Parts: sequence; C-alpha cells; structure tokens
Amino acid sequence: MNKSYSGYICQDYKPRQDDLVAEFFLEKGRGASFAEACQAIASESSIGTWTEILTMKPEIAERLSPKIFSLNYSSGIVKIAYPIALFEKGNIPQLLSSIAGNIFGMKEVKNLRLEDIDFPAEYVSSFKGPKFGIEGIRKILRVPHRPLLGTIIKPKLGLSPEGHAQVAFDAWIGGCDLVKDDENLTSMAFNNFEKRVKATLAMRNSAEKITGERKAYMANITAPYKEMLKRAKFLKKQGCEYAMVDIVSVGWSALQELRNENLGLILHGHRAGHAAFTRNPKHGISMLAIAKLCRLAGLDQLHIGAIFGKMEGKRFEVKKIGEEIEHKIVHKDFGGHVLAENWLNIKPMLAVCSGGLHPAKVPLLLKALGNDIVIQAGGGVSGHKGGVIAGAKAMRQAIDAAMNEIPLKVYAKMHDELRTALEQWG
Ligand code: 3PG
Ligand code: 3PG
Ligand code: MG
Repeated sequence: MNKSYSGYICQDYKPRQDDLVAEFFLEKGRGASFAEACQAIASESSIGTWTEILTMKPEIAERLSPKIFSLNYSSGIVKIAYPIALFEKGNIPQLLSSIAGNIFGMKEVKNLRLEDIDFPAEYVSSFKGPKFGIEGIRKILRVPHRPLLGTIIKPKLGLSPEGHAQVAFDAWIGGCDLVKDDENLTSMAFNNFEKRVKATLAMRNSAEKITGERKAYMANITAPYKEMLKRAKFLKKQGCEYAMVDIVSVGWSALQELRNENLGLILHGHRAGHAAFTRNPKHGISMLAIAKLCRLAGLDQLHIGAIFGKMEGKRFEVKKIGEEIEHKIVHKDFGGHVLAENWLNIKPMLAVCSGGLHPAKVPLLLKALGNDIVIQAGGGVSGHKGGVIAGAKAMRQAIDAAMNEIPLKVYAKMHDELRTALEQWG
C-alpha cells in the first residue's frame, strides 16, 4: 500500500465537539483493501497525496490529519472526523472541494457516496441560514397552519407573458397560494422575464383583491450570476416576495452570494439536476447532504421530493430530509439519522414536495410529512378536465379534507372539482 495513505484509522477516537464529521458509503476498488481505500479518501480529502512528501512537516500532520473513527466492512459505512481548521468558514465550495472533491475519482474506490455531514457549532454559525424560514414565510402569506398550495405553470415553456399570467391568475383564484415558473423557464424570446413578471404580478394583485388571500409568485431567476442578481433586484422592486433559483445549475457560490445580498426575498430552491449525483445509492452525494448545505447557504424553501410523485424518492429518505431541514436539533438516531446536528440559530427551511402530484396524493403526503410543507402540482392543476381554476380548487379541497381527516371520497361527494380529479387520476 501507498505509505502516504496510512495512519488515519483511529477506532478509539471520540470526535471532538469542534470536529466536522462526514459519513461515507464506500466500496473499495480493485487492488486495494477496504482499510486502504478508507485511508486514501481520508488523506486526499484533507492534507495528503499519493506519495510521501518532504514538505509534510510532522507538525502539520499532527494538527490536521482527519481520523477514521468508524469503519464497517460489511455495510461499507465509514465515518471520518476532520479538524475544523481544514475548512474555511462560510465557504461551501471549499468544503465540497475537500470532502466531496477528488475522492470520488480515486482508483482505490469503486463507489463512494457522501451520505451525511455533521457540522460543528463554529462552522454552522459562520452562515446566515434562511432569512425567513418556515415562520417567516407563513407570516408573509398569512397561512399559519395548513400546508401551502402551489402550482407550476404548464406548459413548462411556450406561453407568452400574458398567457403565463392568465394561468397564474386562474390558479390563484382557484385556491393556490403560490405560483411558480418551471425550472427551465427563464427569459425566453417568446416569454421575456421582465414582461412576464409585470404581467403576472398585475394578476396577483387582482387575485388578492378577489379572494382576500395573500398570493405570491415565484419567478425563476436562474442565469449567470450578474444577470441573476439583476433579475432578483427587479423582482424586489416590482413587489415580489420570492425569487426561485435552480440550485444545482447555478451552483453553491451563486447561492451563497444571493443570500448574502440580503435582498429581502424569500428564496425558493428547485433541485433540477440533483439526481445526477443523488440517485445512485452507492455513489455520489445524498440529497440529505445537499439539503443541509442549502439550509446553511440560506434558502428558505427547497424541493425535497414528493414520495408519491413522478420522480424516484424513497419515503424514508424524503421523510428524513424533511425532518433534518425543519428541526433545530436532530438527534443521532432520530428517524434513521446517523449523524446528529444542532442548527443553533439557523432557521428551519420549508420542504417543498413537487413532481407528479395531484389531489389523490395529498392525504398520504400530509400523513408522511406533516403540515409544514408546500404541495406543488403542475400537471395536477393544469391537467384537470375542468381547467386550471377547477384544478386548483380540487387541490385545495384535498388539503381541506386531509386536514380535517375526511376521506377524499367522502369529501368529493360535496365537491365537484375534487370528484372530477379523483375520477381522472384516482
Ligand atoms: C419537476 O420539475 O418536475 C419536479 O419538481 C422535480 O421533482 P423533484 O422535486 O423531485 O426534483
Ligand atoms: C416542478 O418544477 O416542480 C414541476 O414542474 C412539477 O410538475 P408536475 O407537477 O407537472 O410534475
Ligand atoms: Mg418542473
């Protein structure tokens, strides 16, 4: 074995309060033992390289070497405690270049997945976290208890600004609190961002007057950073409460900057693309780790999966993510969490369930995740046979029924829109 990859296993080590702990799943590569592979990742993710180096003073190794304090040959789970000095506070890109960087491609590993990260207090408090969080969002929207209802304007692309605004209006009138752009709608030749925002907000104002409810528009500002910031500022100026951003496409640096600008906008994170590294159960980065980083970075709400929707997402995993982003303290063995976390003053982030939802799925979702969620349905609103207003009504009726523990079939007897939706999608 490469000598520079030795000396990292310390199974009797108890992580210090200020260590950052990372949990990995690891499958060794050919030609390496499991222990060697573990040490290779501990080394390459911190201070080491493939050979011994003269510039490595014993003092540096002593001060900064991570410790593999737990490794399980049969499950492949490895836990490494890193001295906090290895990480720059408030810098997510640097963290990822370390514990989610070169190591994914090393020959010593066949598969490697960053499952969870436990951030020490000092690291957590170097971030702002969400500006509004669950409480702040509920206050702005004046919806204290029930799940928030959202829709995604469909078709994803193709509508004009006026056409878009009309669908938004119908959704709001029908009972949606939130209307959002789709992940790939930005500023198009046929649907200019500024025109769309103006037209949609005008409709929002009318919908608020007619319904007496607060209504909000989540416009997608995803773009190269300078342009994105310009769009965010435009939203603020136009009286928008929200900005929506595709977290994977724009990247961590942009997300952190957006939050640091402190624009007073609720930040909604769409996770399109996350499955490129979260989907393989053996390799990549877990959605749980991504969600934790989003909470640190300061998103107010984040897509976490819909459990019963169109995308892959195990019930257990989605529930775990929901708990992680909404609690202040996550205990070690709570609901399947392996690592504990104390979020200190970082506010809870609101979980968004989206992708393939329709009224029949609402009770199951509430049962699994509770009321502190946004339920979004695109096709499940725009696809309703009676049109968008009826589609939104049916979703809202499903939420009312579920909150009052009335079976949908019973509630549907008195609510035509829900009945049609159930006939349509069961
Ligand atoms: C969509 O754009 O269709 C979905 O929101 C994707 O679902 P996700 O929330 O599971 O990523
Ligand atoms: C999203 O961006 O969240 C979606 O496009 C969900 O769309 P759907 O409800 O039609 O799957
Ligand atoms: Mg979408």
